[in-house]
Amino acid sequence: MVTSQQKQLRRPLQPKDGTAGIERPKALLEILPEDPEPLLELASRHMVSSRQFDRATLIQLFRLAAQYESTPALMHLPLAGKILISAFYEPSTRTRLSFESAWHRLGGAIMSITDPKSTGMAKGESLADIAEMFNNYGDVIVLRSSEGHAVYDMLDGLRIPIINAGNGIDEHPTQAMADLYALAKWRPELFQGEVNPEQRIRVGIIGVPSRMRTVRSLLLLLARFPEAIREVVIISNESENFDAEQREELERAGLTLRVVHELDPVLPELDVVYINAIAWVGDSFESLGAGLHLTRESPLKPGAVILHPLARGNELSTDLDDTPHNWYFAQARGAVFIRMALLTSVVRRISAVMDTPDQ
Ligand code: CP
Repeated sequence: MVTSQQKQLRRPLQPKDGTAGIERPKALLEILPEDPEPLLELASRHMVSSRQFDRATLIQLFRLAAQYESTPALMHLPLAGKILISAFYEPSTRTRLSFESAWHRLGGAIMSITDPKSTGMAKGESLADIAEMFNNYGDVIVLRSSEGHAVYDMLDGLRIPIINAGNGIDEHPTQAMADLYALAKWRPELFQGEVNPEQRIRVGIIGVPSRMRTVRSLLLLLARFPEAIREVVIISNESENFDAEQREELERAGLTLRVVHELDPVLPELDVVYINAIAWVGDSFESLGAGLHLTRESPLKPGAVILHPLARGNELSTDLDDTPHNWYFAQARGAVFIRMALLTSVVRRISAVMDTPDQ
């Protein structure tokens, strides 16, 4: 008898979702005009919050990411000779591996910490002292920590840039960039400046803005493109969803926000459905949003796309994976290219001062 696993071995390997390939990044590249200035501004800068990125910078990052995504093998490796310190003090699949994949693709070398117990932190060493050491060992740091303050504690002592790869429930700015990069490939016209009122989208976010770093950072980046967004609908079981001033900041930036507690009645209105259930709370992961699930039977609008920062829990059924609604795999794949764009901008320009002029 031939098992399904044996059948699998006989098939050629294929991408699981229909969004793979270079056509979409190429189309995005073609419609976004190049402007080198915003990316030059990122050189040798710490990248901690979504608030640091204006729309011009985001558009140039999307453009450079699209350039990388549509060029499978680089002729020139801009970060050859540079060293990344990849410090992940909290578990990660996508962020660590996509940053490291990005760095390898750019030609750099990596030192990776995947467990704080393997460093002086286990003996009580301060983050400020660790920062001082990192200055001597690498050219850039990517830090993931469950402590919201950790990345800020290191800033004073650092003479090399640090990129926030998720700090507690505070922010995850490069995840939000990957989210918007997926939307830019889905609907490039939303990022061109003027958006026809009929083309504006309604975005549903199943999550809690005050307790999920991905949602907090995503909302801040969406607020850079209010002309593209008819409304953001927060779908949550919680009675309090925003930190003090969080909602006001987003509304001042031009977002229209609505909070609802039931998913299915609002689903048919949504062009984009962003879903996340896991929040890092205190010293553990907590699953929020009980009862808020997406399945193939959910009343999704035809053409609607689903985004999820992943890791996936019960909230997102695997039976959606082979439907056109699945843009979460494209979102995770694109994270490599948007991180390549960011790393190149932050690190390569520093070296331009000291390296040969053609680098
Ligand atoms: N999206 C995200 O942050 O996933 P990881 O926790 O696997 O890095």
